[in-house]
Amino acid sequence: MSKIIFSGVQPTGNLHLGNYLGAIKNFVELNNDKENQCIFCVVDLHAITVKQDKDELKNNIRETAATFIASGIDTSKSIIFNQSEVHAHAEGSWILSCMAPMGWLNRMTQFKEKAGKDKEKASVGLYIYPILMASDILLYDATHVPVGEDQKQHLELTRDIAQKFNKDFNCENFLKVPEPLIKKKFSRIMSLKDGLKKMSKSDPSDLSRINLTDSKDEILNKIKKAKTDSYPIPNEEIKLKDRPEAQNLLGIYSSISNQTLDETLNEFGGKNFSDLKVQLAEILSNKISPITKEIKKLTNDKEYLDKILLEGASKAEEIAGQKIKEMKKIIGF
Ligand code: TYM
Repeated sequence: MSKIIFSGVQPTGNLHLGNYLGAIKNFVELNNDKENQCIFCVVDLHAITVKQDKDELKNNIRETAATFIASGIDTSKSIIFNQSEVHAHAEGSWILSCMAPMGWLNRMTQFKEKAGKDKEKASVGLYIYPILMASDILLYDATHVPVGEDQKQHLELTRDIAQKFNKDFNCENFLKVPEPLIKKKFSRIMSLKDGLKKMSKSDPSDLSRINLTDSKDEILNKIKKAKTDSYPIPNEEIKLKDRPEAQNLLGIYSSISNQTLDETLNEFGGKNFSDLKVQLAEILSNKISPITKEIKKLTNDKEYLDKILLEGASKAEEIAGQKIKEMKKIIGF
């Protein structure tokens, strides 16, 4: 049976190596498999759960679409669209929010992290954000959802919500219970400055991440300044225990060069981090720079990007519009 792949990325600027290795690189592999029907969404409704600048948001929506295309997603095969163009997402989110118990949402760790100490001031949208995510996925009968490790809990919630809806309305298998596609390794890329913190667009230090728009010199400088420890590189994975920065840099190297951690450890075991850093900076520039160049070229062609997004939205609308109609009928509207 062919797979239906759905995933989303927020247009909040600074797309980085974590987004690429944890998600977008896998989108491209899935797009390249002829059997798959892939739908990739620029989740702009999710972005406004925290305050956005109007003009920047518009540019970031286009830049995220450009990043998908520049990374290798083929728009003649996969659907690329932005969420706010397809009404069913918000409507589905409301319906599902009436099915999901608050207790389930209260367990979401990402809300706790993002809301910080002053939870009272966080938007209600940020709190119910995982339900919008469930709506995104379930409206397309997605069978598989490729994401980084940080989205695992949200996908478990999506599965629970689908099952509860089917049970509450006695409509077995109406909402398809999706499988997460989270790579066993390298699905959590950490900050270059702190191996215990996730690489993130909201980290105030730009040195903590490689942005997909960084120049070769910026990549070189950031890798040079990346935190390491003072021991040589081991040749066995077990010896990486309690060495988060070492683990992260070796993981990034393995992932970007499509090799296993064992192969990387064979290559670098016994050497110093300075050796790894030289080669890591080089391979990162070689892989990222063509994408950066293409993103810049595409973002200069706003008309083209708007056309791709509009065409994508029209195809997405056909699928999601039909599903929401059926959903409303099942509810009794
Ligand atoms: P977002 O926009 O924060 O991140 C987009 C994708 O990048 C992955 N990612 C990472 N992977 C590895 N290491 C990191 N440091 C790292 N940082 C980010 C994320 O796991 C994600 O796959 N809620 C989602 C967007 C979303 C979505 C959806 C995803 C909305 N609806 C439906 C899948 C299906 C989010 O905020 O991702």
